[in-house]
Amino acid sequence: MVQLRVNGSEHALEIEPRLTLAEALRERLGLTGTKLVCAQGACGACTVLVNGERVTSCIMLAVMADGSEITTIEGLAAPDGTPHPLQAAFVEHDALQCGFCTPGQIMSAVAFLRDNPHPSEDDIRRGMAGNLCRCAAYIGIREAIADAAERMEQPR
Ligand code: FES
Ligand code: FES
Repeated sequence: MVQLRVNGSEHALEIEPRLTLAEALRERLGLTGTKLVCAQGACGACTVLVNGERVTSCIMLAVMADGSEITTIEGLAAPDGTPHPLQAAFVEHDALQCGFCTPGQIMSAVAFLRDNPHPSEDDIRRGMAGNLCRCAAYIGIREAIADAAERMEQPR
């Protein structure tokens, strides 16, 4: 039995030891916002937060997350449905094409901005290097992250 606290809700799951965290989230909890692309830890599409740190959930076994606090893209908006500043900025800056990398980009950026609240463009470039976008929407992605950093400075 594995105990996961996902987006504030407790889940006790009977799972096979080989199940990855990404598979547990998608297939057992129906949280398909977490995307699977390479399934090899190379693209960042499956990024979620585990105890606040970004993790490529396709290469983490769910059993390794036993007892952890997990945040996925579904848990990012405020309880009243207001999008997170990063979600709003991605929409406004048109920071996507197919959108497949977007949940991972945003989850990664949440942890990045927490650790680097005033990033330069170069900081963003380096800090987000683990999240690939096959549509090459990188300019919009960097603009959205920079804009979200400014929004998050304002009192909300
Ligand atoms: S799907 Fe996990 S890193 Fe690519
Ligand atoms: S928007 Fe298509 S992979 Fe990034």
